[in-house]
Amino acid sequence: MKNIIKKAEIKHILYKEEITALLSDSSFDNELFKAADRVREKYVGNEVHLRALIEFSNVCGQNCKYCGLRAGNKKIERYSLAEKIIIGFASKAAGYGYKTAVLQSGESGCYSTDQIVSIIKKIKELGLALTLSIGEKTFEEYKAYKKAGADRYLLRIETTDKNLYKKLHPGMSFENRAECLFNLKKLGYEVGTGCLVGLPEQTLESLADDILFFKKLDADMIGIGPFIPNPDTPLKDEEGGTFNLALKVMAITRLLLPDVNIPATTAMETLNPNGRIIALQSGANVVMPNVTEGDYRRKYELYPGKICVYDEPEKCRGCITSKITSIGRTVSKEQGISRHFEKKKTINK
Ligand code: 5AD
Ligand code: SF4
Ligand code: FES
Repeated sequence: MKNIIKKAEIKHILYKEEITALLSDSSFDNELFKAADRVREKYVGNEVHLRALIEFSNVCGQNCKYCGLRAGNKKIERYSLAEKIIIGFASKAAGYGYKTAVLQSGESGCYSTDQIVSIIKKIKELGLALTLSIGEKTFEEYKAYKKAGADRYLLRIETTDKNLYKKLHPGMSFENRAECLFNLKKLGYEVGTGCLVGLPEQTLESLADDILFFKKLDADMIGIGPFIPNPDTPLKDEEGGTFNLALKVMAITRLLLPDVNIPATTAMETLNPNGRIIALQSGANVVMPNVTEGDYRRKYELYPGKICVYDEPEKCRGCITSKITSIGRTVSKEQGISRHFEKKKTINK
């Protein structure tokens, strides 16, 4: 097992069987986490990039079985923020010193392409890098957002097990989701993907495939989080993922994709009160604090126990900064473009 970790740390390549072996044996977890921490420091440094997350609408037309925002969940109160409010949150985020805004919502037709384009343009006027996380759209829509100034796009593949994908995403197709990711790459976005860990029937082999998919896609950012059962969804009685397994998938991802951006996810902190700091010490280099204000945070309930739902942006900003500095890391003053993405651009010039 130690040799597998050593090989991954030096060569950044593993066979599927080696990944599965690492995931199934817990006796060398500390070595794995330390190796991922070293690779993180060597390739992306000690700076932590903060992304200001704006959850601008919880309306969703899809029915992903694990998610609290699914259309079939009649228990949540839906909202879609007006452009003015969204720009207000982004503008305050810039004031707190954030260099990137992430616009996230359910997948819906609530906003026309023109409306999204207008929001993108106004956020870009604030001097922020902009990430979109608004689901599967057409090539033309992605193109319009890019032209308006969007820099990055997050679309988790969720799972690469096609059978499981089908069961969990009624009416959706794995092929279309993968195509969206390749379209985003073609359009020159910095592309983020990722998966859920601990889904019902998900195997360690399929998690190994997920990691190999990230490599094949040549992703620039990878977000990994444990699945947390939501009582208002069909998966309410499932077990859910563990913090440790999600951390391991994340650490192996860092070993194999050394120069990508990896967030310490909110779902990790939901399962462990120190989850984001532990993740930052096991391969992660990004945190996405919430800058949505008031009741909306609580209403954006993907899963129960979400952190900071009663906190305000200013508090979160101070809180995460002191946590980051307490472990000897610094909050970056740069936009924090994925090193992997920058390198590809230089090679292609
Ligand atoms: N537990 C953990 N993560 C979830 N997501 C949706 N529902 C859950 C849940 N129950 C994640 C999905 C999606 C992201 C925005 O939130 O991976 O891509
Ligand atoms: Fe909608 Fe995304 Fe939740 Fe699926 S995961 S139900 S697309 S918000
Ligand atoms: Fe919100 Fe700590 S990040 S209170």
